[in-house]
Amino acid sequence: MSQAAEKSSPKEMEKIVSLCKRRGFLFQSSEIYGGINGFWDYGPLGVELKRNVKEAWWQDMVVRHDDLNQLPGAPAAYSMTGLDCTIIMHPQVWKCSGHYDLFHDYMVDCRESKKRYRHDQINGRWVTAKGQRIFVTAQAGETQQEDMERQALKFFNLRAKNKDDLVWEGSATCLAEIDSTEQVLAPDAKSLNTLTEPREFNLMFKTTIGALGGEEDAAFLRPETAQGIFVNFKNVIDSTRFRLPLGIAQMGKSFRNEITPRNFTFRSREFEQMEIEFFCHPTQSHEWYQYWRDRRMKWYQDLGLAGERLQMREHSPEELSHYSTGTADIEYAFPFLNEGEFGELEGIAHRGDFDLRSHMEGKLDEKSNPLELQLGPDGKPKWRGSGKDLTYRDDLTNEKYTPHVIEPSAGADRATLAFLCEAYTEDEAPDEDGKMQSRVVMKLHPRIAPVKAAVFPLVKKDGMPEIAKQIYLNLKKKFNVFYDEKGAVGRRYRRQDEAGTPYCITVDTETLEKNTVTIRDRDSLQQYRVGVDEVLAAIEEKLA
Ligand code: GAP
Repeated sequence: MSQAAEKSSPKEMEKIVSLCKRRGFLFQSSEIYGGINGFWDYGPLGVELKRNVKEAWWQDMVVRHDDLNQLPGAPAAYSMTGLDCTIIMHPQVWKCSGHYDLFHDYMVDCRESKKRYRHDQINGRWVTAKGQRIFVTAQAGETQQEDMERQALKFFNLRAKNKDDLVWEGSATCLAEIDSTEQVLAPDAKSLNTLTEPREFNLMFKTTIGALGGEEDAAFLRPETAQGIFVNFKNVIDSTRFRLPLGIAQMGKSFRNEITPRNFTFRSREFEQMEIEFFCHPTQSHEWYQYWRDRRMKWYQDLGLAGERLQMREHSPEELSHYSTGTADIEYAFPFLNEGEFGELEGIAHRGDFDLRSHMEGKLDEKSNPLELQLGPDGKPKWRGSGKDLTYRDDLTNEKYTPHVIEPSAGADRATLAFLCEAYTEDEAPDEDGKMQSRVVMKLHPRIAPVKAAVFPLVKKDGMPEIAKQIYLNLKKKFNVFYDEKGAVGRRYRRQDEAGTPYCITVDTETLEKNTVTIRDRDSLQQYRVGVDEVLAAIEEKLA
């Protein structure tokens, strides 16, 4: 998480989580059995929303991409195509990619509570009472200060009314910055010094291929979709007429055995990524990096994350690998974060030729400069590459080179969550009697809204349902629409506001006389009439 100035509200997050469950956007996985930590199911509205987010990405990045013209900001015209690779790949892929050795988090166990924490996710403060100074800790998050205070009161055997007896020092710091754990009170412990030393924990889920189940049959669920693209680079070039620069896109499930899944779907153990590996000539790679950084930022803005809650954060030169000339994160100020904090939605990284060379020659040592093979204790390559030639020959210039890669890597679940958070709005709307009432409305961009329009007969008689059903069936050929004839029309509007439906079409008495219906706009609340035969065209025009 990075720091910046912006408002956030944990209360708002509680309301969003509750709306997601109530209206069928998101459910906890296996909820009837008590749920399973880090796994989430998308409900009837959620599945449509997430599909629309992924479809918008695929359409904008791949299908509708104009490969004939030089786009604004791009150094040249370029091509885009896609792949759909398997979740389980040859285990050597993860050895050469670096995930087998390096893809870990540091974690600590509490010997007393038997709980496990991510080392960098525990914050603490020094506090003194009754002549003793301890470092009291809590899991990082919006309630950390309250949690620390509760822990400290319990430890010093003080009542809440005596909380002024606690003398706090400085602001909260990460446990990772404390040298000794002797004075540390773990988040759920009663005594001091119960935490183990930090240990590495591989985040890849292991599985077994075939019936025998020995160590040589071990495989991993992919922790990213990117590697499927690298190992198929040659297949794509050989089987198509694409020339570089070329972007290859893939979206699909990824799995990480996160130690502390948290913050709703933000850090899950099963999630979906939308990744592009963009292959280009080394001399143009920095310009392409800048192009993709700006292009991806604009994508989120165009779909409604246009406010101050969205930011681009360039990594400082010290944070970069030496083979990379840039990495930027697109970040969003999720309401579950502390004030001023942002969470990553997407990383755009200049990866040089690290990945293709690692799959050709063997795992490279990312700390070496220039890049060299990582060697094992016997002086031989630690992980052998495929030995296949993954270089590219330009058929116009006859130049042969290893392409450099720009990687815009996004999370479909994080994007969906950001769109949900941004859309959540509380405002006022008039009821049937014209009296202003508070309402909750999901102001989702019409392109990603789960339901595009709802059709209502004002009353369930006088032939209104028949006309409304005809309109509904006509619209249904083109979009996801909803028909509702139950209850007061005001209540039906409210339900659609909470679902984020941008347009409601109502058949009323004037329909019977003049063959027109009202279209109500979710955000402006304006209503206007169009002919029954013009409804489809009107909605199509709005969604275009
Ligand atoms: N190939 C590069 C890569 O995977 P990453 O920063 O580890 O980079 C890319 O992941 C994106 O995937 C993140 O920006 C985030 O949107 C999403 N992501 C990563 N871990 C996630 C998790 N545990 N839960 C949900 N989304 C996650």
